[in-house]
Amino acid sequence: MTATRPIAARRGPVTIEALTVAHGMVLAVRAISISARGGEVLTLLGPSGCGKTTTLRAIAGLEEPQEGRITIDGRTVFDAAGGINLPPERRGLSMIFQSYAIWPHMTVFENVAFGLRARGIRRSDLSSVARQSLDLVGLAALADRPATRLSGGQQQRVALARSIAGNPGVILLDEPLSNLDAQLRLAMRTEFRELQRNLGLTAIYVTHDQEEALVLSDCVAVMRDGVIEQAGTAAGIHDRPATRFVAEFVGVRNILPCDAAEESGRTVARLPGGALLACSGPAPDGPACVCFRPINVRLATQPGPGAFPATLTAANYLGDLVQYHLHAGELTIWARGLPRSDLAEGAAVFWSVPPEACFLVAA
Ligand SMILES: Nc1ncnc2c1ncn2[C@@H]1O[C@H](COP(=O)(O)OP(=O)(O)O)[C@@H](O)[C@H]1O
Ligand SMILES: [Mg+2]
Repeated sequence: MTATRPIAARRGPVTIEALTVAHGMVLAVRAISISARGGEVLTLLGPSGCGKTTTLRAIAGLEEPQEGRITIDGRTVFDAAGGINLPPERRGLSMIFQSYAIWPHMTVFENVAFGLRARGIRRSDLSSVARQSLDLVGLAALADRPATRLSGGQQQRVALARSIAGNPGVILLDEPLSNLDAQLRLAMRTEFRELQRNLGLTAIYVTHDQEEALVLSDCVAVMRDGVIEQAGTAAGIHDRPATRFVAEFVGVRNILPCDAAEESGRTVARLPGGALLACSGPAPDGPACVCFRPINVRLATQPGPGAFPATLTAANYLGDLVQYHLHAGELTIWARGLPRSDLAEGAAVFWSVPPEACFLVAA
């Protein structure tokens, strides 16, 4: 997919303030506030049922919130207190669903052109706008093909072409890649990111896939039970989850209950069995867990400073890397690294974690 002719998008920011959405008795979204900056991707990440789709539908105008305010490109499109609730077609955005919503009885071209008039594109411009967006997603050559005769990835591109046609400025995507196979998902997320950057689109992207969220986003908001548990840059969420829930969700495999203390100006975590880990960042109030990623665990076959004994109970190949499983008393530790001939199952090993890779969360 090549975006050689960027159409000047409006790059509008989207701001949500204290948004509450109920489905009958279910409070699906509870007073959340978050912004997508103009030209950036905000991703709502969280497990099924946490309120991602409901939030997206409320922004699109497909769900009426109970409370709060939504502005798009500086314009208030919803305000519960002010009685403002613009219909979806007047919000200047488009939405891609998980199911693509491709019309099977139409050609690729018709799928993109259909609906453009409703979005205010002049009849005389319909054809060129539709062809331009098909060109942007690399489907120009297939314009006249029946939509049913496309692969899953091509259908997803049609949905993408349809959403960017007519230059909406803001696009909303609800798990758009979840129906594709793993390899195609990886390729499409890179293509989407490239297109979004080239067009300067503001996007709000919903996924339950943490890796997809980290790769695609300028800002990630991790949701749980209708609230935002943590929001920040992809790197910030990956490296410094603020809570145990976020740490688990973004794949921090080692989350171990510990006694945390401040000792001579540094934070330390004492694990059952006596291992003492220096940590970066502060200790939480109350019970704590020390967290570190398997990739940051160093393994040695000889004792060394700051290293603790354990038994290597399993070494499982994951393709390029090996996942190591260690036991030390009641502790289980996961490590990950390149294959090593000196690390056989049953070996006595010494593990350590650099302080910058260790942090504490409330237990
Ligand atoms: N139409 C609906 N009627 C009743 N409850 C709903 C409806 N849609 C979603 N919910 C409930 O609202 C909560 C949030 O759902 P949803 O926004 O779809 O979550 P997600 O997209 O994160 O999986 C869930 O508890 C879900 O069961
Ligand atoms: Mg959903």
